[in-house]
Amino acid sequence: MSEIVITPARNVAGSIRLPGDKSISHRYAMLAALAEGTTRLQNFSTGADCASTLQCLRAVGVSAAQENGSLLINGCDGKFTAPSAALDCGNSGSTMRMLSGILASQPFACELLGDESLSRRPMRRIIEPLLQMGANIDSRDGQAPLRITGRKLRGIEFRPKAASAQVKTCVLFAGLSAAGETVVEEKLRTRDHGELALCAFGAQIERQRNRVSIRGGQRLKAIEATIPGDISSAAFFLCAAALFPRSNLIIDSVLLNPTRAVLLDVLIALGVQINVLQVDEQHGELVGTIKIQGGQLGGLKISGGQAAALIDEIPVLAAVAPYTRDGIEVRDARELRVKESDRLSTVTRNLRAMGAEVTEFDDGLRVPGGQSLHGAEIDSEHDHRIAMAFTVAALRAEGDTLIRGADAARVSFPGFYQTLDTVVER
Ligand code: S3P
Repeated sequence: MSEIVITPARNVAGSIRLPGDKSISHRYAMLAALAEGTTRLQNFSTGADCASTLQCLRAVGVSAAQENGSLLINGCDGKFTAPSAALDCGNSGSTMRMLSGILASQPFACELLGDESLSRRPMRRIIEPLLQMGANIDSRDGQAPLRITGRKLRGIEFRPKAASAQVKTCVLFAGLSAAGETVVEEKLRTRDHGELALCAFGAQIERQRNRVSIRGGQRLKAIEATIPGDISSAAFFLCAAALFPRSNLIIDSVLLNPTRAVLLDVLIALGVQINVLQVDEQHGELVGTIKIQGGQLGGLKISGGQAAALIDEIPVLAAVAPYTRDGIEVRDARELRVKESDRLSTVTRNLRAMGAEVTEFDDGLRVPGGQSLHGAEIDSEHDHRIAMAFTVAALRAEGDTLIRGADAARVSFPGFYQTLDTVVER
């Protein structure tokens, strides 16, 4: 397990561009694999999670290779071939959950497994709707490994209990080859990259507020696309800049999809100045350049739909909360307990290690403002977002911070520490 020492910073300034969004990269790769023709993707995520997706796709007969800086994926026009070994999803919940939706109707049996963290995560949330659609799936009591035997599927009307874009996407991907119509109706609207990606690859879907429907038997066509920079990776840089009143950071070509960019609204509400310098649209996804300047940070309460929309950004918001004036309270975020680690407890433990006062709730936490933190030993617990969140907190701490398991960052952003070094002034 690698360690890294973070020394405090004086300021954050400069300009960065980030590897492609992880959520979009997974979806484009999977749909490209199903499509007819060769898809060319630029700025594909460099994270280990998306590499797991590509490895699984190769194992079912899809070719995916780099050529002149682009990723070329040769689609199978709907038909994968049986893998010769179990499909290893690594640490990636997105790979396991979304790919299951596609594999459920392929004409072979296969097994999906993952690392220790992924093997603890809840899979019943995809198994149940897929069984209703007629799939044949065995699991270890609702957890990986999953054994899927392909079957003909039928459309269902599904109302997920938990707010999860992975589950919504899994069911919609299954619906693509099911008989009749598949409908997903969400209580809280989650990220809509699955819907936008299906449209980009030529599928017809219908969307009304929180309800999406797709008719089975549609074929997909290859695309060319540049994937916008990952806004959840940008979150660490945005929060780092927010900590320094004189900061000035530009993030180029970053994803601004409204279902993902709630962090920008929240940072503005906290007192940070954010300007959108330019916006474009590609395959339905908004992408733009943003400029961020620090200020006096007030306070926030995050709950309900906002908690669902910020689910990947809450660890870093909580990690910078002690440096605000009024603190940050998060509720309705119980889902954080079933991520790569139990993020409510890893955040609480690590904030306390740095000397902060924190109250942990079953569904959230409260971090009072006006606190100063000291350098400490942080344990990422192999969770990429915890390693990066506490690296950001360490930039304003007194003294050095040792991040144990810093290499977990490679799951979503292997270049995180190098990119951070280009904008941190010490
Ligand atoms: C993701 C959805 C979220 C998020 C994950 C990526 C996606 O997970 O935490 O990092 O790409 O759909 P859930 O679907 O479990 O909420």
